Parts: sequence; C-alpha cells; structure tokens
Amino acid sequence: MDYFEIHGLKTLNGVIEVSGAKNAVLPLMAASILNQGKLKISNVPTLSDSITMSKLLKKMGAEVNFESDNSISVDSSKLDNPFAPYDLVKTMRASFYVLGPLLARFGNAKVSLPGGCAWGPRPVDFHLDGLKALGVKISIENGYVIADGSNLIGNKIHFPKISVGATGNIVMVAILAKGTTTITNAASEPEIQQLCEMLNSMGANISGIGTNTLTIKGVTSLNSISNISVIPDRIEAGTFLIAAAAVGGVVEVSNIIPEHLDSVIKSLQKANIELEVKDSSIVIRANVSNILSTNIETNEYPGFPTDLQAQWMMLMCLAKGNSTIKENIYYDRFTHIMELNRLGCNIKLEDSVAIIEGGRRLIGADVMSTDIRASAALIIAALCASGTSKISRVYHIDRGYDKIEEKLTNVGAEIFRKK
Ligand code: UD1
Repeated sequence: MDYFEIHGLKTLNGVIEVSGAKNAVLPLMAASILNQGKLKISNVPTLSDSITMSKLLKKMGAEVNFESDNSISVDSSKLDNPFAPYDLVKTMRASFYVLGPLLARFGNAKVSLPGGCAWGPRPVDFHLDGLKALGVKISIENGYVIADGSNLIGNKIHFPKISVGATGNIVMVAILAKGTTTITNAASEPEIQQLCEMLNSMGANISGIGTNTLTIKGVTSLNSISNISVIPDRIEAGTFLIAAAAVGGVVEVSNIIPEHLDSVIKSLQKANIELEVKDSSIVIRANVSNILSTNIETNEYPGFPTDLQAQWMMLMCLAKGNSTIKENIYYDRFTHIMELNRLGCNIKLEDSVAIIEGGRRLIGADVMSTDIRASAALIIAALCASGTSKISRVYHIDRGYDKIEEKLTNVGAEIFRKK
C-alpha cells in the first residue's frame, strides 16, 4: 500500500495550478446519463473517484474514455442498464448521484445504498423522501434502493438541512417531472450551480440557481450538449492556501475562481495572513510567526466549508493563542484530531467543538490517513514538522487530490510516494 514520506520545514515558493473540482465532475458525469450524444468534459481531475464514476457509467452501458488533455468523453446513448452495484457505490458515496438521472431517463433504477463512511453514518433519507414527493415508489431490498418513477410529478420539497447530494439528485429528476417543483433549503454550492447550468443548457428549466430556493419547471425532453469544462476545485485551492500559510513562503494558487473561496479568504485575512486576490489566482505571502488564532464554524456555502475544517485546524495549531472550530455539517468529523496530536498538536474535543492550542512545534511521526480531507491536514502538518513523517493509506488522498505530491514538490516540498 502506498505511503508518503515527508521531510518537513521546507518553505514553499512558486505557482500551484488547481485542477477541476472533484465535487463538480462527479455530478456532471452522472448528469451525462441524460445526454444522448457524445459529451466532452474538460478540466477533469485525475482522481480515483472520477475513475470509479467512469467504471459505474461503463457498467451501465455508457462509453467513457479518458483523453490525454485532462478531458473525458462520455457517450451515454447506449446506456441501458439502470443498475449501480454495491461494490462501486460502497467505495464512493457520490455514486448515489446516478439514482436521479437513471429515474428521469428510464423510469426505474436499482442503486445500492452507500453505507457509512469513515466519520459517521451519512444517511440518504433526504434523497429518498424527496424522490417520494416526486411520485417515485421506493423499496429497500438487500441493501438496494429499488425505485419506480414511471409517473414523475412536480411538488414542493423542503429539505430539513441543506444537502448538496440530495439537491443534485432531486433536481435531476424534477427537470423531467410533470409540472413545477420548488426546492426550499436547497444547496447553493458552486458545484450544484454548475450542475444546474449544465442541465439548463440541455433544455431544462431551473431558476434560482445559486440561491437556496430552486424552481424547476418540468420539460418533456432534453437536448444533448457536446462540451463542458469543470469548475476549479475550491477545496483543493483552499488546501494549498492553508498549506502555504502554515509552511511559509510565497505561493500563487492559480486557475481558481476566488469568489468561490470568499469565506476562506476572509478567515485567512482574519488570521493575519497576507493575500493578494487576483482575477483567477491568489498570491499568499506567508509568515508563520504572524498567524493569529481565529475561531471558525463550518457551514453550507457560502460559509466556511467542512471540507477545509481539518486543514484549518492544523493551521490554528501554529497560531498565537488558542482557538475553536465548531463543525455544523458533520458533527463527528474529527478523526484527524488523534493523528494531528501524534505530530505534536494539542487538540481537544468537546461535543462538536474542537479546542486547539496554538503555538505548537510539530515533530515528524508515522500517522494514518482516515479520509480525503483529514489526509490533507496530515500532509500539511508533516510539511510543518521537523524531521520525517510517514503518512499511510494515501489511497484516501488519491480519491480527492490530483497529483498532490507533484504539485507540492514543484514548489519546494520534500514529499515522496513510496510502496
Ligand atoms: C457533499 C460533498 C462533500 C461535502 C458535503 C458537505 C460531494 C461529492 N461531496 O457531500 O465533500 O463534505 O457535501 O459540504 O459533493 N444529510 C442527511 N440526510 C441526507 C443527506 C444529507 O441527514 O439524505 C445530512 C448529512 O449527514 C450532513 C448534511 O446533511 O450532515 C450535509 O450533507 P450533504 O450536503 O448531503 O453531503 P454530500 O452531498 O454527501
């Protein structure tokens, strides 16, 4: 199993180019089920999650090819098997995104329930309740959702809590339902915005994109589109900004949409980190001794993303003074605390609030990745630690970060992938 060996305390200098967003490419690939012709998706990150989604689409009958220019071509015209098996869905929860487009296209689908994940149960009840409201009959058999959506009817849906995945799934059904659907407490994340814009370019009628209320007027059929380019990964960008802030140096994080990082930029500025925000990049001039402790709470977009909580926690271990992080999206997403403490951090947990002692000096250690973003926090910690660290189970990071060791090596880090 691959691991990373990291020699810490090397400042970072240079440009890091951000890849396309994992959380955008996965729903766009799922939406390609509704596209009849050949679709070229460009700016696709090389991730094991994009490969898992391509395997799933192929298994259902689509033709999917990875091209040399960071693009993939997906032709779903011959897709004829609306079935998503457990062996693929269990490795990637976002596989559940295929349920909506399969129902909209075939009127029925059999999709495995995703099961738990490293930091908690992560249910799919909002997806299923929303589908039922649109007239879908659902039964659960042998761990599979068996869905019959032969009579899709628009309805009013209010999510008890904002859900990115449930919003995406329901939208992909409602666009072809009879009548109008209104979703309140809908997700406004940039990745959902891009999904809705793609569907509109295929002939759907979704309004309110980017707000928490979506109105979807059902249409009877869709057109096909031939091109789409994935938006930049705001979480990858935020990870590199936090890494540069923690390790020190002058780094330009490029190929981004700074507006998508508004809450992260504000938090970094509050922590006294010097940033120059340009049109499609951010230059960070980091001086670790100046970092000020800054409390944050994770929230839905445009709030501070839960997917950057672990990385921010690491940064706060170096700040002047103590700070807190309140996790409002996943109350138990804290498996990284014990591993960060092994590297010399001192973080305690009280309910869903992490209490972080600042001013720590980190020392290299062997640690274990537990999920995608926790792994990123461990990499940052190892880059800040004296001596050598080994991070095992890097398959977690390969799910969500495109060539991370290459990108960090290019700006001066010493990080090696070993077997
Ligand atoms: C997506 C992102 C993930 C991110 C998360 C929150 C993708 C592929 N993944 O995950 O990186 O961390 O948004 O920004 O885009 N919930 C329920 N029932 C449901 C659905 C959700 O209770 O049926 C709860 C969840 O447990 C969580 C909250 O709603 O507390 C938000 O989850 P959700 O937005 O659905 O996360 P994902 O779409 O799975």
